[in-house]
Amino acid sequence: MNLKDIISLASLSTAEIYEILETARNLKLELNAGVKHKMFYGKTLAMIFQKPSLRTRVSFETGMTQLGGHAIYLGPEDIKLGKRETTEDIAIVLSGYVDGIMARVFEHQTIVDLAKYASVPVINGLSDLLHPCQILGDLLTIWEKKGELSGLTLTFIGDGNNVAHSLINGCTKVGMKFRIACPAGYEPDEAIVEAARQEGGSVELLHNPREAASRADILYTDVWTSMGQETQAEEKKHAFTGFTIDEALIKLASEDALVMHCLPAHYGEEITYEASRSSGSAIFDQAENRMHAQKAVLALLMS
Ligand code: CP
Ligand code: NVA
Repeated sequence: MNLKDIISLASLSTAEIYEILETARNLKLELNAGVKHKMFYGKTLAMIFQKPSLRTRVSFETGMTQLGGHAIYLGPEDIKLGKRETTEDIAIVLSGYVDGIMARVFEHQTIVDLAKYASVPVINGLSDLLHPCQILGDLLTIWEKKGELSGLTLTFIGDGNNVAHSLINGCTKVGMKFRIACPAGYEPDEAIVEAARQEGGSVELLHNPREAASRADILYTDVWTSMGQETQAEEKKHAFTGFTIDEALIKLASEDALVMHCLPAHYGEEITYEASRSSGSAIFDQAENRMHAQKAVLALLMS
């Protein structure tokens, strides 16, 4: 793989996405078979977090351990990215110590700048605009459960947010059809939608969750209020009323439809607890597959 960084799935080719998924599948098989890897012996990943995390932090850190390396957690109060010193200086200094940087940031430009100034690989662990690692784990999950990706319809019920944006990028790259149902005013970024369509991707924008759910192969949702948008929580609760994945909505989808959520979930808002535990639910497979997909990303970028 010739990529230095993973900032957006839009910059990856279909072949590169499949290379990650195949590597992830092999690493998962090897882990389950008890194979011990030493590929990152003596190597370190710096993990910068401007926002909280359970899955991203633990899956990257554990992934590094499993590959024989080490990860350092740098929380919001540790380095105060962009406040105590510039992103440029942090990227240059870290490049002198570590072999890779994973960062979760507010402004997308911060991760772009880290990649620009770091001489080591930089991985986007979520920005306000994108969440590429989540979608790599999701594609792995869908591939495992459905045996294919191309031709499937994924319906996202909810906010046109970072997860929706990376789903648009990831799904269209592998020939999946992406549909979103959101209230008017909460559509995904127009430039992302247009770029995906320009490349021949299928992206449908709807405002009716029942219409969008109809015959979908996958129903996917995420919180209505993303990290950093807390002041909009009440307004969004009101706007998103009716955009909940519940058992009635699942009945409108394909018979064996998957139910997906990147987590953390706000049960009773974007998804009911019952829907999250329904027979098609893949939410905990997604969470686990974050680790396998990210180990593949690390192995391909940092080896
Ligand atoms: N899905 C996800 O990125 O979870 P965390 O915010 O817990 O990392
Ligand atoms: N859209 C959510 C995803 C959390 C993993 C957020 O940005 O908070």
